[in-house]
Amino acid sequence: MASDNADQQVNPSGVEARYLNDPFGTDDVRSPIQRLISSHDEIRDYVGLTSVSRIAIALYDAKTHRLKTFIRSGAGESPLDHYTALLDDIPSLAEVARLKRPRVVDNLGVFKDSPSLHSKRLISHGFKSSLTVPIFDHGELFGFLFFNSEEVGYFTEVIVHQLLPYARAIALSAVNEMQSIRVLQAAVKTAREFSHLRDEETGGHLDRMARYSRLMALGLAEKYGFDDEFIEYLAQFAPLHDIGKVGIPDAILLKPGRLTDQEFAVMRAHVDKGIAIIDSMRRDFHLDSVSYLPMLRNIVAFHHEAMDGSGYPKGAKGDEIPIEARIISVADVFDALTSARPYKHGWSLDAAFEFLHSAKEKRFDKDCVAALEAGREEIVKIQAQFAESPLG
Ligand code: C2E
Ligand code: SIN
Ligand code: SIN
Ligand code: FE
Ligand code: FE
Repeated sequence: MASDNADQQVNPSGVEARYLNDPFGTDDVRSPIQRLISSHDEIRDYVGLTSVSRIAIALYDAKTHRLKTFIRSGAGESPLDHYTALLDDIPSLAEVARLKRPRVVDNLGVFKDSPSLHSKRLISHGFKSSLTVPIFDHGELFGFLFFNSEEVGYFTEVIVHQLLPYARAIALSAVNEMQSIRVLQAAVKTAREFSHLRDEETGGHLDRMARYSRLMALGLAEKYGFDDEFIEYLAQFAPLHDIGKVGIPDAILLKPGRLTDQEFAVMRAHVDKGIAIIDSMRRDFHLDSVSYLPMLRNIVAFHHEAMDGSGYPKGAKGDEIPIEARIISVADVFDALTSARPYKHGWSLDAAFEFLHSAKEKRFDKDCVAALEAGREEIVKIQAQFAESPLG
């Protein structure tokens, strides 16, 4: 926080000036989009937008055609946390995307008979009108920005005029942040392609890792207070946990049989190599703007640690292992077990759960194992959708 006497600091240029406290303080650890959205409370008083009671972003996943809630203003419970829906199941929103134009609904009551859950929830939380802005990135649908008010007909032309620049700033910030993550993913993909990657990584493994992690995080959200932003980043980063494997010699990485102790010792270095890669990418690609980079680093650094301290490389235990890594560890082993690898057959779902169960407490976080087990039905669907295929 800036100190009260910030305005008395000497200006090195010698120009007579006053420095103001920065409402978006640079020591603020929240992400840029989170800051913009939460600054809504301050901004709305300023611009007189006191009746905008909710701002939220939903992201669109072109692969699954799903919309998922991402960030929203305000603390406490919200009507649509952890919500996901097929865009096609919400025809009126699909239309906003098709027309590529902001849309005002003066009375959300028009949606009261809509089959989609999401308007029902908005209405039951007392929201009466909405401004919906579709967000595009290079012509592709990126998501939607929602403004809701508890007043019918709140979004007049004047108000919309005031809101749109602000909407643009939020949208840009969201697209930017995701762009940085895509740069990161592209860099990893290139590195992988140069390193003769194993079939494992070209099959559905990466997609499944993202889905399993999301499923587990949703199950743990209440207990750990995960918001949608945390869950989104976790899913985005899950497939990157093994990036350090690009530094492992092919003879070991691609070995069609069991590793010797010596080879396994080399293999274990993929964790430290991964950390080194993240740290050098952060420097070289200026990824400091990726506010969740520490989460990625934790995932890479701690994904082979065990709850009882028997893991590697550090032998960290229990809470010393960040929750994001405890989740990834379960997802990783589960997917490794249920997939065929050059050195093993794929296990059945039951056998894999049996293994996780027997190793739970010692190795895994039991909440994480429970969260995965609770998603069994969903897992079957994920496995069917992202089955092993050589072309991924
Ligand atoms: P991975 O294939 O991503 O496997 C992740 C983790 O899943 C492994 O970490 C291990 O804890 C678990 N796992 C995988 N397959 C099995 C299995 O058949 N039985 C059991 N009980 N657990 C299994 P770990 O052991 O630290 O291995 C790290 C990485 O080393 C593996 O990543 C894989 O790339 C490689 N690796 C491990 N063992 C072998 C092996 O015998 N042959 C080859 N070629 N690679 C191996
Ligand atoms: C949605 O995800 O369909 C709606 C999200 C929202 O209104 O915040
Ligand atoms: C609906 O739920 O049917 C429509 C909601 C919207 O388009 O915002
Ligand atoms: Fe690993
Ligand atoms: Fe792995």
